[in-house]
Amino acid sequence: MRILVVGGGGREHAICWALKKSPKVTELYCAPGNGGIASVAECVPIQVNQFEEIAQFAIDHTIDLVVIGPDDPLSEGIVDHLEAKGLTVFGPRQNAAIIEGSKVFTKQLLRKYNIPTAAYESFERHEDAVAYLRQQQAPIVIKADGLAAGKGVVVAQTLDEAEKALHDIMVAKVFGESGNQVVIEEFLTGQEMSILSFVDGETVCPMVPAQDHKAVYDNDKGPNTGGMGTYSPLPHIPQAVIDESIETIIKPTAKAMVAEGRPFRGVLFAGLMLTPNGPKTIEFNARFGDPETQVVLPRLKTDLLDIFLAAVNGRLDQMEIEWSEEAAVCVILASEGYPASYPKGLPIEGLEDVQNSIVFHAGTAIKDGGVVTNGGRVLGVTALGRDIAEARAKAYADADRIRFQGKHNRTDIAKKALV
Ligand code: AMP
Ligand code: GLY
Repeated sequence: MRILVVGGGGREHAICWALKKSPKVTELYCAPGNGGIASVAECVPIQVNQFEEIAQFAIDHTIDLVVIGPDDPLSEGIVDHLEAKGLTVFGPRQNAAIIEGSKVFTKQLLRKYNIPTAAYESFERHEDAVAYLRQQQAPIVIKADGLAAGKGVVVAQTLDEAEKALHDIMVAKVFGESGNQVVIEEFLTGQEMSILSFVDGETVCPMVPAQDHKAVYDNDKGPNTGGMGTYSPLPHIPQAVIDESIETIIKPTAKAMVAEGRPFRGVLFAGLMLTPNGPKTIEFNARFGDPETQVVLPRLKTDLLDIFLAAVNGRLDQMEIEWSEEAAVCVILASEGYPASYPKGLPIEGLEDVQNSIVFHAGTAIKDGGVVTNGGRVLGVTALGRDIAEARAKAYADADRIRFQGKHNRTDIAKKALV
């Protein structure tokens, strides 16, 4: 089969890496791909928002399945666009991708169907939001309604900080139209957990859980990033809590989307907080997580293409999905300055010295035959091991073998799971 993956980050590298293992895949393309994806797929210089060009490429190359990686094109309706041209696509249609694209939509859905989440109110007018905020207590959470490259959430420690966030989002419009509405939400405490599921309508096949590390520095200090590292499984979280999250949050949400006439087909990503009062929803995403995917897919034993095909053919309920017992740890190597501005084009050395890890490229390019930095998150070094301790030791040993100017990584990825 001839497959086209849309996207060019670490997530898409992991998806291509997993698809490449399928004996059914004869041609694998990635648009636009990156410096590392080029080693497993043929990279095509088309950007993820060029729907027309993507459709034309897929038609010209008789692509059997298009797989969409990132959130932006999903929210903008890439699946509807490609399906209208007769193409087969793995990913949610626009009316279902709204579960990530609008936080107000999702909070209303969760409230309507009694699905556990933080208490909240939403606002269209800045004055109303401020008046409400002044009656609340800190810490409190402010969220821009729309997509904001992972930066639209402010966990405010004081009401002043929260008021500044409201101003930035609703008046200064730092996230543009995404700030037309805001959610003001109760601050939840507990461990965070990500569960990604293959979903087709009411059929939910959960993947193994993972935990991300969002803050840029050790001990969760510094600004939030797209994610600085992940691990799976989560040995310190009881299976009963994982099962409860699936039964009380993920399955009811898939069912609610069907009831709303917005059946979800694709990967549904639940960001959960394991509070003293049980698991609660922080957010849903309409796609594979990044870098969760870099630890989840290496543990997948079933052929990923078979799962995608089952989902697009309405057969996901007949699929037995198998996972490896091994643990996986992914350490992100980032550019100096990330998540603020950072340099690009710096040579990366030592990739050939890596011994026990898979190196997923997040932001790299090929320049003069060498690999150079080309993004904030540059590489994800993933290792498998008998347990977290072994996987972690391997990933860090290999992370140290890779060098570029200003390289930054957290040193405490998966540390929580060691105790
Ligand atoms: P999101 O982009 O919605 O995943 O939010 C980014 C991060 O903000 C989450 O991973 C949490 O660490 C934090 N966060 C979001 N909502 C809440 C909440 N209600 N209480 C505490 N922390 C939150
Ligand atoms: N790692 C969080 C996300 O993909 O949104």
